[in-house]
Amino acid sequence: EFHLHPKEVHFASDGPLGKFDRQQLQRGFQVYKEVCAACHSLHQVAFRDFKDLGFSEAEVKAIAKGWATETPSVNPETGEPATRKSTPADKIPSPYANEVAARAANNNALPPDLSLMAKARHDGGAYIYSLLTGYTDQKGFKNHAGQELLKEFPDAKTPDSLHFNPYFANLNIAMPPPLAADGQVTYADGTVATKDQMAKDVAAFLIWSAEPKLEARHQTGVAVIIFLLIATTLAWFSYRNIWAGIK
Ligand code: HEM
Repeated sequence: EFHLHPKEVHFASDGPLGKFDRQQLQRGFQVYKEVCAACHSLHQVAFRDFKDLGFSEAEVKAIAKGWATETPSVNPETGEPATRKSTPADKIPSPYANEVAARAANNNALPPDLSLMAKARHDGGAYIYSLLTGYTDQKGFKNHAGQELLKEFPDAKTPDSLHFNPYFANLNIAMPPPLAADGQVTYADGTVATKDQMAKDVAAFLIWSAEPKLEARHQTGVAVIIFLLIATTLAWFSYRNIWAGIK
């Protein structure tokens, strides 16, 4: 295997006590909406789930209104499905009508749904962050073992339709670098939108989308450990008590 392992990166949700950073999730949603949503769907997420990111009911309604959802009826003039404004109950709509349209727009590659991507890839949050910040020059590139790709495999030149990215298992990815410049989004909370910041924020958002109940799981884990400690202590003292008189 020639590709690189994900970079070391810390998320607030890491570890047994980890919690989401709501401000960061909102920024990550902004990056998804303004950049990734042009190509990637988020099928498992409904607009009302965004209340979990700290948005109010009214904000969720406003966000939903900005996205068109297809209806079963067809516009008789264009033959395209008619659309309506989304409501909080709708899932985030796909950017393409179907797979044919998606491939037609992406050199025949298919942008995968991102809802569960952070679970589908090993070390998913760090992987997404690394992938987004990992586009590099193929010439002179060395992997962890110090092997220089083009020296070892002179024929391994990236085709024109693809992009070299050493964090992608195939090394050559159909996705053009989506975060190409600092300041690509203007964050509502005033955070400076460097490429690194945007990549980290959207990775955090996709960790949330893949497991919105992560915090509840962590809290349950802590409660279970505390219960087991107490139960073990009680069992120990009752054992001592029961056998106290026997030599
Ligand atoms: C693949 C994330 C923006 C087109 C992927 C993958 C991820 C990802 C995680 C899967 C890689 C894998 O299979 O391991 C993102 C994020 C974006 C973004 C977080 C926004 C910051 C875009 C945009 C486009 C695009 C704007 C279209 C111009 C694609 C395509 C693939 C892909 C075509 C399939 C690549 C292949 O299989 O070779 N993206 N993406 N992505 N993305 Fe994106």
